[in-house]
Amino acid sequence: MSSAKFYVTTPIYYVNDKPHIGHAYTTIVADILARYHRSLGDMTFFLTGTDEHGQKVQKAAEAHGITPQQQCDDTVVRFQELWRELEISNDKFIRTTDPAHKKVVQEIMQDLYDRDLIYKDEYKGFYCVPCERFFTNKDLDEKQCCPECGRETQEIIESNYFFRMSRYQDWLIEYIKSHPGFIQPDFRANETLGFLKKPLGDLCVSRPKSRLSWGIELPFDKDYVCYVWFDALINYISAAGYRRNDEMFKKWWPASCHLIGKDILTTHTVYWPTMLKAIGIEPPESILAHGWWLVGRSKMSKSVGNVVNPMDMVQKYGLDAFRYFLMAEMTMGQDASFTEEAFVTRYNSDLANDLGNLASRVIKITLRYGRGVIPAPGEFTEPENELNAAIENAITEMEKALKTMRINQGLEQIMNAVRAGNRYMEQTAPWNLAKEGKTARLNTVLYCAAEALRKISVLLHPVMPNKMTCLREALGIKNASEGHLDSLKKKANILSGLQMHDLDALFLRIKPEETEVKEQAPEKAKAEPPAEGLITIDEFFKTSLKTATVLAAEKIEGADKLLKLQIKVGSEKRQLVAGVAQFYTPEEIVGKNIVIVANLQPAKIRGIESQGMLLAAKDGKNLKLVTVDGDIPSGSSVG
Ligand code: ME8
Ligand code: MG
Repeated sequence: MSSAKFYVTTPIYYVNDKPHIGHAYTTIVADILARYHRSLGDMTFFLTGTDEHGQKVQKAAEAHGITPQQQCDDTVVRFQELWRELEISNDKFIRTTDPAHKKVVQEIMQDLYDRDLIYKDEYKGFYCVPCERFFTNKDLDEKQCCPECGRETQEIIESNYFFRMSRYQDWLIEYIKSHPGFIQPDFRANETLGFLKKPLGDLCVSRPKSRLSWGIELPFDKDYVCYVWFDALINYISAAGYRRNDEMFKKWWPASCHLIGKDILTTHTVYWPTMLKAIGIEPPESILAHGWWLVGRSKMSKSVGNVVNPMDMVQKYGLDAFRYFLMAEMTMGQDASFTEEAFVTRYNSDLANDLGNLASRVIKITLRYGRGVIPAPGEFTEPENELNAAIENAITEMEKALKTMRINQGLEQIMNAVRAGNRYMEQTAPWNLAKEGKTARLNTVLYCAAEALRKISVLLHPVMPNKMTCLREALGIKNASEGHLDSLKKKANILSGLQMHDLDALFLRIKPEETEVKEQAPEKAKAEPPAEGLITIDEFFKTSLKTATVLAAEKIEGADKLLKLQIKVGSEKRQLVAGVAQFYTPEEIVGKNIVIVANLQPAKIRGIESQGMLLAAKDGKNLKLVTVDGDIPSGSSVG
């Protein structure tokens, strides 16, 4: 048994509205990580829940003509039901209106107040209701819109309580710099460090009840409630036994990973670590911010009203396929565009064709030529070694992907192994071996194909638990619902002698007219191209082009073609490595408003991370940057 510990959290979601695919995504990533760790024998604690206080919830309640508590009680059920439907295996569900949580928040506030880490002062600021965030004049543009979401803010002057966050600025900068991996991906750590270049103010942690009554009352002043983010972040420790169950808290804290969307980076990478420092607790081991699911070019969001209901997809295409799609389609850290067309394309190619076909061929051929009994293998030859190498590679890569929490990278390698399985079947042609009476060789092939399928099913189990259980049942494995990753490392032959059962197609192809895939020689399914050389608009929009401003540029030693650029894309800072050094000097390029591919998977060029690619026109020996005609903020989408 492994003694490792894994504590993973999702954001606790606001109960102002029902959940959508964005919430489902974060929760499914956490679920899959938790399932993988459990299957490795790690002690695992998976926490999710709801954020129930604050102005957003109060406003939703007013709009519905109900009390805030009623709003919470009605909406929390929508989340809990969805998590059940999506087979989310959380160990605990926390609601911030739980009395136990409220008490812990009050005790922490009292303690910080007693230690003069919370003090009273007059405050002037601008408030953004949808983001539940305060800003000061210096954060805002002339129109005084929210720097996070661009919506109008409200000016507010009042007495409030403040947390001495500014005290911890230097400590936090040092901590982030000396703990690579604390904030992931790396470019989000840079973004936080960029934010910390400006002096960090103290954090307003109260709201007068006269303006907002829906919150946790301050223990030292009955006229105020606690700021919703201060209350919400504490869930990660209150749910783990802080101040209530020392043994439990010691067991789980620090959390291994807070999974979040990039929309809530600052609250998690600035507010939360400084709060913990003041409280006297270690920071979490990592905070991993993923990108957004976009619809067209905008973020899928309740307030924009372009949300996709996860249950519609599940009912139409099945839960396991939905979970697989979300994991495979989004490169961790980058945005991804949600379209049903992309879903169908990936479903048909990865699941129906590659995986489904491998499963059905192996099982049908074993039933036909070996009466369904998995034989004992003979000697392995080159094709077996190749197949096994592809499987070993998938296991190693999945292990790596778990450590770095990049599930999509592991899945790619598993799919490569699946394709290697299909190649193996074609190469070894067991149907010919049967005809030619080469029984010993046939036995080896049937065994190896079944073993590949078993290993693939274990690797994919946390992502698609139901389908992979069916697959292992069909292979004749007892306790098929258990898919232990550890079992992959054992060399023992556990399959020979097992009786297979027939299996209905694991994943039916989505377009019925295309279901007659040849049983023994599948072609790789492709999305139907519109016409030769053309792409659909959705394919085009998979590429996120954005304007960016070059802030700084420098030559890279030993690479005379490359420049290292620091660029600004909206509120985000990124680093690019571009092959333009022979055409532009660093001085010439600084200040240019360029166009970049913003959703390119980051790459290391000469050991330097490049987070995107700039566009340039090239003609033989000439190269000119693609720039923007006139003034438009950086971060604007191009297309
Ligand atoms: O921010 N794409 O709650 P929230 C990807 N209560 N993920 C998305 C998404 C999208 N389009 N939309 C939402 C809050 N998410 C606070 C959190 S934590 C102490 C308090 C996911 O209901 C993503 O994980 O607005 C994002 O960070 C979260 O939902 C925001 O949920
Ligand atoms: Mg939000």
